[in-house]
Amino acid sequence: MKPGTVIESRFEILVKTGAGAGGWVFMGRDRQSGHSVAVKLLDPHESDFQRFERESALLTEFSHPGIVRYVAHGRIGSRRYLVMEWVEGQTLRERLIHGFTVRESIDVVCRIAEALAAVHERGIVHRDIKPSNIMFPAGLDDQIKLVDFGIARKVGQPSSMTRTGLIIGTPGYMSPEQVLGERHVDARSDVFSLGCILYACLCGRPAFVATHMASTLTAILFFDPARLDLLCPEAPGPIRDLVKRMLAKDPADRPSNAAAVAAELAGVIEVPDSLRRPFQPKVAPYSHQTPLANSFELMTTKTVGDPALRYPNEGAPVFVLASMDEELRGDRSEYDEYHGDEEVEDRAGPVRDIVTHHSGLSAVLADGTFVAMFPAGQSQAEQTIQAANCALELRRMVPLAPMVIGVGDFKPATTVLDRLVESLIEESFRGVLDDPPGTGGDDDTLPIRLDSSLSEFLAEKFDVSQEGKSHYLRPRD
Ligand SMILES: Nc1ncnc2c1ncn2[C@@H]1O[C@H](COP(=O)(O)OP(=O)(O)O)[C@@H](O)[C@H]1O
Ligand SMILES: [Mg+2]
Repeated sequence: MKPGTVIESRFEILVKTGAGAGGWVFMGRDRQSGHSVAVKLLDPHESDFQRFERESALLTEFSHPGIVRYVAHGRIGSRRYLVMEWVEGQTLRERLIHGFTVRESIDVVCRIAEALAAVHERGIVHRDIKPSNIMFPAGLDDQIKLVDFGIARKVGQPSSMTRTGLIIGTPGYMSPEQVLGERHVDARSDVFSLGCILYACLCGRPAFVATHMASTLTAILFFDPARLDLLCPEAPGPIRDLVKRMLAKDPADRPSNAAAVAAELAGVIEVPDSLRRPFQPKVAPYSHQTPLANSFELMTTKTVGDPALRYPNEGAPVFVLASMDEELRGDRSEYDEYHGDEEVEDRAGPVRDIVTHHSGLSAVLADGTFVAMFPAGQSQAEQTIQAANCALELRRMVPLAPMVIGVGDFKPATTVLDRLVESLIEESFRGVLDDPPGTGGDDDTLPIRLDSSLSEFLAEKFDVSQEGKSHYLRPRD
C-alpha cells in the first residue's frame, strides 16, 4: 500500500510505521473526523482472515481509555484492514530501554492491569500481553493503551490456530499453559504474562529469555526466573510476593484475573526510592551475576502429575530433547486448521508414559519440540543413567526422531538449553540429508546425540561412539 492511497474514500494512508505478524501498521488520517488513525493491513497472502475478523469484532466491544479505540474495518480487494485511533507515543518495549523505578513499575503495571481487567470482565483473554503491544500516549504519562487483539479469544472459545501460529514473535511472555499449546486458557494466562512485564520493569531483564524458541519455552515451563530480591532489592515484600504468585507455573496459584492484580498493586503505598534499571533484552536473568544456587528452582508443572513433587535445586537437571513433529502431528500440514491438542496429546501419550516411567517430567512445547526433564535427585549418576535409558526406550518408539541428551550444568541454564537445541537442529539436518553418522548403526535408527559433558560418563555403561566432535549414544543389540 502506497502513501497517498485512500481507503473507502475516507482513510488516507500516510506513513508506514511498523511491520508485525503478517501485516503492516500505517499512520493515516480519517477525512471524516480529521483525526489521525492507525491502519493495520493484512498481507494479501496471509490466509488467516478469520483472525483479523475476530480482532476487529473484539475491538468493537470496548470503550475504555486503556484500550485502543476501534474506528472501522473492511476489505480492499483481497486485503483486510482495521482502522483504530492513532496512538502517538512509544511502546513499552521502547520505554523499557530507560527502565523504571519501583514506583513507576507499579504504576505502569497497575494501569495495564486496569485496562486488562476490562478485557477479562467481558470474558476475553488477550493472550499476547507483551511490551510491544502496550503503548504510552505521548504527554499522558499516567496512561497506557493496550493494542493488538490479534489472538484474543473469548474464554471457552478454543483456538483454531496451529501451534506454531501461536508463537509468531517473542515467546518470552507466554504462560506455561500457552507453551504447552493448551487451547483453553483463561485470564490467569494473561496474569502470568503481566507478571513477566512487572518483572522486566523492576529488574531490567526479561524473566525468561534464550536464543532459541524451544529453549525459552523450556525455561518458562521448568525454571523460575532469578530471584527478584537479588535483582531488585528495593522491591517491597508485597510486590515480591505478588510477582511470585503471578509467575506461578500452576494457574491455580495465580491471582484470578487482572482486576485482582490491579487491586493488589493499588494497595502498595510505601515504596522506597530506587534505580531505573535499563532493559537488557538479551541478558538471561539466571546469569553469573546472581548466586546461582539461589537463582532458580526447578518446578514441576501441573502437566507432570503430582503437584506435591517439588524438586530441590541440588544437582542440575538432565534434559532429553526430541523433534517428533511428524510422529506427533500425523500428516497434518503446518497450515491446516489446528484441531486440537487432544490429537497431539493422544499421540504423545505413550511417549510421555515412558518418561514418567523413568521418573522424568515431559511436555510437548508449542513449537512441537518434545522435552523430557530429569530433575536432580539423590544421585546425579543415577539420574543421568535413567535419562539415557529413557532416551533409548524412546528411540525404539520413534527411531527417526532427532534426539539429544544434555545436563544443565548451572552456567546459565538457558545456555545449556540453547546448546542442546542447536545440536537438535544439526541432528534434524542429518535426518533430512539421510546421512546417519557413524558406522555399525542401523539405517532405520538414528543415534542419540550426547552433549559433550555426558559422553565420558555414559561411555562406561553404554555404547557411545564419536563422530567428528560429536558423541552419540546407540542402542545395544
Ligand atoms: N493504534 C496504534 N497507534 C500507533 N501505533 C500502533 C497502533 N497499533 C499498533 N501500533 C504499532 O504497530 C505495532 C504492531 O501493531 P500490532 O497491533 O501489535 O500488530 P502485530 O499483530 O503485527 O504485532 C505495535 O507494536 C505498535 O508499535
Ligand atoms: Mg503486536
